[in-house]
Amino acid sequence: MPGVVYLNGEFLPRERATLSVDDRGFIFGDGIYEVTRVVNGRLFEPDRHMRRLMYGLRGIGIDPRMTAEQIIDVHYHLIRENGLMSGEATVYLQITRGAAPRTHYFPAATTPPTVFLSASPFTPNPAQREAGATAVTYPDIRWSRCDLKTVNLLGAVLAKQHAVAAGSLEAVFIRDGVITEGSHTNVFGVIDGELRTYPRSNYILPGITRDVVLELAIEERVNVRETPILQQEIGRLDELFVTGTTSDVTPIVQLDGRPVGSGTPGRITRQLAAALDRKLYASTSAANPELATTR
Ligand code: PDD
Repeated sequence: MPGVVYLNGEFLPRERATLSVDDRGFIFGDGIYEVTRVVNGRLFEPDRHMRRLMYGLRGIGIDPRMTAEQIIDVHYHLIRENGLMSGEATVYLQITRGAAPRTHYFPAATTPPTVFLSASPFTPNPAQREAGATAVTYPDIRWSRCDLKTVNLLGAVLAKQHAVAAGSLEAVFIRDGVITEGSHTNVFGVIDGELRTYPRSNYILPGITRDVVLELAIEERVNVRETPILQQEIGRLDELFVTGTTSDVTPIVQLDGRPVGSGTPGRITRQLAAALDRKLYASTSAANPELATTR
């Protein structure tokens, strides 16, 4: 994976970016990350990503020593340096509590955080978004602060591996008899014409795409309620879809080997997928103000 990355104040070739073995991200998974979509050199919903990042950092007591604006500037610098001003890309960001001798408690407040960002080309999968994909359920074995986007992703890794081994796109977590979210997506379902998704709480990541889709649902006059889908209601689902920065709206047409509704992407799913596409791509067809700045 070639390219220029950002590490602790420096832009440098990926192969020259090295971390201490004492980094608390490596030792404890003690850090927060973000993944932001880029279309034609523009970040999608950067302010929402920065708000969630700062919420997560505050939540685990890491001071990034950078403002949201400075962090956004690094994003745009990387987009340019890596020749990603046209087409699609993602920027990955990770901030950890830095490198220090291994103690479970926090190191001295003078320990600088580790700040890492990289930008990569991204290829969406329109065929999958059109035809839909399959998913499997998996017990939600994660901790109870899923609202913090920490780099502790073992629950997600095991769930997604289970899905991939089963030939599926995504694992849908079940906690206490209800669907919470996916391994790296939020989950929405339609029952009796009503769109439902797990409410914002400590048990799900407040997905940026989830928020945008909820807003679009209201604009599109879709009847929507943030209330969990019970495991025992799965057989009654007319539609199911997942949302995420790299998934957009992806229909789920089969869950645990059984068709969802008619077994094809449903009307509300397609309506919201189209609305999200419009929002995502509309901003990029117009003149791009970021390109004109000195960033
Ligand atoms: N994952 N839920 C979980 C557990 C996630 O990890 C993600 C994102 C989402 C969707 O959030 P958003 O719409 O803000 O991308 C929901 C990222 C993309 C990842 O881990 O790569």
